[in-house]
Amino acid sequence: MPQIFRPSLTLFIKLVFFGALLALVVLVVAWRMSIEPRPAIETAVRQPVPFSHKHHVGDDGLDCRYCHSTVETSRFAGLPPTSTCLTCHSQLFRNAPVLAPVFASLQQEQPLAWTRVHDLPDFVYFDHSIHVAKGVGCTTCHGPVDRMPLTWRVAPLTMQWCLECHRAPEKFIRPRERVFDTTWQPGEDQIAQGKKLVAAYHIRTGQLTDCSICHR
Ligand code: HEC
Ligand code: HEC
Ligand code: HEC
Ligand code: HEC
Ligand code: HEC
Repeated sequence: MPQIFRPSLTLFIKLVFFGALLALVVLVVAWRMSIEPRPAIETAVRQPVPFSHKHHVGDDGLDCRYCHSTVETSRFAGLPPTSTCLTCHSQLFRNAPVLAPVFASLQQEQPLAWTRVHDLPDFVYFDHSIHVAKGVGCTTCHGPVDRMPLTWRVAPLTMQWCLECHRAPEKFIRPRERVFDTTWQPGEDQIAQGKKLVAAYHIRTGQLTDCSICHR
């Protein structure tokens, strides 16, 4: 082989090439590591206060919006401030040790430090209000919350999972007025009913798999 470059230049090109390759690998690894791990699926998440949806929703019949008051109007469902708990617990179980962090939170004027059960990476855009408005129920994504003594996650929250519904929402959509209903189950004619609702709610199925919907 004829020598095209001087040996020192060949070495320089090799070094630049491997340097660039190494930088790329480091970048990809750093990016993957920046995607934080989330609590395992189907595993109850421990919390500073053992708050039970089973008791408050299943037994006492509280509506989701009593505590997650922005779920219809914003991207975030929101978590209740300590004052919401005290509506009842300033009297009820006031001296129970499990509620001590609630009163500490009140005294120190610090919100309770709930551990997140669901957490999407920052490069994914999600919005509760549009799903609620178009007939996607809480239990479709969050499972039987009314039976959870401590909250856990039922959905993998992968891109594939989101797309499964965005490709064919008729499999999951329910009447709007039952979005908060934890007893709703799809019937045998779900696909037919779902197709009617997709039309009635003007769901734009053609665009729902565009990358820019969730990555903006
Ligand atoms: C009395 C207040 C209250 C009511 C009513 C309530 N929640 Fe919650 N919810 C909480 C609190 C407090 C947390 C944080 C602790 C936890 O994760 O269990 C929470 C957490 C959650 C989470 C997990 C949030 C995360 O970290 O990802 C989901 C999902 C949820 N609630 C859904 C619901 C649904 C659906 C309903 C109605 C069927 C409902 N909640 C009713 C108080 C409430
Ligand atoms: C289409 C699926 C889907 C539906 C329907 C849905 N959620 Fe969520 N929910 C999510 C995802 C995904 C997250 C995590 C969001 C994030 O990390 O940014 C989440 C997070 C939450 C949280 C934590 C606080 C927050 O806003 O990040 C609460 C509380 C919650 N959901 C309650 C509800 C309630 C109540 C309903 C019904 C009115 C509901 N969700 C309907 C997917 C859904
Ligand atoms: C509308 C009234 C009401 C609100 C608001 C409320 N609770 Fe309760 N809470 C109850 C009742 C009633 C019980 C007894 C539940 C039962 O045994 O069915 C209870 C029980 C509890 C218990 C004892 C363990 C258990 O589940 O039985 C804890 C802990 C608790 N609540 C925490 C909270 C926290 C934290 C908040 C705020 C996010 C809150 N509660 C908001 C009414 C309320
Ligand atoms: C069970 C069904 C279902 C699941 C699961 C679901 N979506 Fe959706 N999503 C919908 C429907 C229905 C719409 C409303 C479309 C419309 O308005 O035409 C929607 C709309 C959206 C929009 C708003 C689009 C716009 O144009 O403003 C975003 C963003 C979105 N979804 C993100 C997500 C992400 C991210 C996930 C997964 C974490 C997810 N969705 C999971 C059914 C679902
Ligand atoms: C309906 C919402 C939705 C749409 C549409 C969507 N994505 Fe995603 N994407 C997600 C979610 C959610 C994650 C995070 C997955 C996780 O954390 O496991 C993700 C993650 C990714 C990642 C990170 C690698 C990975 O798999 O974790 C890439 C790259 C990506 N998406 C590219 C795309 C491209 C390209 C398109 C268009 C063809 C697209 N996405 C369309 C929701 C969506």
